[in-house]
Amino acid sequence: MPNKPTTTIRIDLDDKDKANKVFKEIGVNLSSAVNAFLKVVIREGGIPFPLEVSSEGKEHVSKNRTLNRAFMNRKDEFYTMYEDVEKEMVLHADQFVGKTVLCNCDDPFESAFFRFFVINFNKLGLGRLISTCYSHSSFSKSIGTYRNAYIAEITSVPKEFDAGCDGALDLNVLFNVEGNNLRFLAGDGDFRSSECLEILKRADIVCTNPPFSLFREYISLLIEYGKSFIILGNMNAVTCKEVFPLFRDNKVWYGDSISSGDRKFFVPDDYPLEASGCGIDAAGRRYIRVKGVRWFTNLETPGRRVPLTLTNTYNPEEYPSYSNYNAIEVRKTMMIPKDYTGIMGVPITFLDKYCPSQFRILMLANGNARTNNSRDILDSVGYVQDKSDSGGVCMLDGKMTYARILIQRIDK
Ligand SMILES: C[S@@+](CC[C@H](N)C(=O)[O-])C[C@H]1O[C@@H](n2cnc3c(N)ncnc32)[C@H](O)[C@@H]1O
Repeated sequence: MPNKPTTTIRIDLDDKDKANKVFKEIGVNLSSAVNAFLKVVIREGGIPFPLEVSSEGKEHVSKNRTLNRAFMNRKDEFYTMYEDVEKEMVLHADQFVGKTVLCNCDDPFESAFFRFFVINFNKLGLGRLISTCYSHSSFSKSIGTYRNAYIAEITSVPKEFDAGCDGALDLNVLFNVEGNNLRFLAGDGDFRSSECLEILKRADIVCTNPPFSLFREYISLLIEYGKSFIILGNMNAVTCKEVFPLFRDNKVWYGDSISSGDRKFFVPDDYPLEASGCGIDAAGRRYIRVKGVRWFTNLETPGRRVPLTLTNTYNPEEYPSYSNYNAIEVRKTMMIPKDYTGIMGVPITFLDKYCPSQFRILMLANGNARTNNSRDILDSVGYVQDKSDSGGVCMLDGKMTYARILIQRIDK
């Protein structure tokens, strides 16, 4: 077989001419450019740029999609704003008394989590604060001295640190207080390393914004080690087979302080500000905005105890039945009929309003429903495979719906 076979590709002539002009400028020919593209595809394991329509009318949608995808990829260098941390943590104030809080996947010099717990250490009556920093974190790299992974442990905070979030905190003063220290870790600070798992064992409550690309692994580990936690994640994570059962079984729920909109995150200086809503703040720090962010927690929150006020009444025209599930379609959570006692399919955003004494979650009807659920569960919701349901998506009039959570009232 020849080493370099010739391949015929149909290319639009006009596109070919335009591309050739660009290649000429760069000094490569079409064949080298195609070969370079193929090499990058092999190296990246996929198309190395987003494939999406960017007509004028769809531009903002396209930008947000790109951004959300970027948020989920392995870059993972997004830093939470102080006010977002504060808004959620104050709701749990009495749950921190005497506790060891661990902020792993963090950086004491940059993290709003560490800053919040230092400023509020005395007010919350914290027992100990631990923060570990991954050696590959871009902020740790940018701070000359601390190129390795390191750990900060705080057991005592001087009164002058109680002042509030605006002033600069002299962390070197803090680390020199008796009982506190900052030291290098032996390994790279990976939350899965045996060294970090030993630190995790010492923690009561874990609070951080973990790398989104490792979110499933991260939350599974917290559950495995029986930890309490309040962590930031993207609501898309709910549809994963590791995460959805945690919501279904009331082992995890959303925190109260974020239930819509987007959130600002700081990014490293070399991060491209391509999407809408990105910018550089007055202090010169780059930020992006991300949609679908939620707090994932297993600490009690007042919000999840409040039942939804239901006003609509059931009628078969407005709430049609699926052809492959024994359930009706409810397009919006607020439309859940007050008088329907059977199974209902609701959007994923239902979880923002979910009250466990009002509804039972049965399963997630999406493209993985058949593989992720036992036959018993599928039978209990009357699932009958439809040749077009692509793995178990709810079908209405021969068309697939979006992913639906199947729920039933329990407070009849
Ligand atoms: C989304 S950022 C959040 C940083 C910080 N917790 C915050 O909220 O501002 C995730 C952080 O996890 C770090 N990270 C990535 N992979 C990691 C791993 N395997 N173990 C520990 N940390 C990791 C990244 O370097 C990054 O600093």
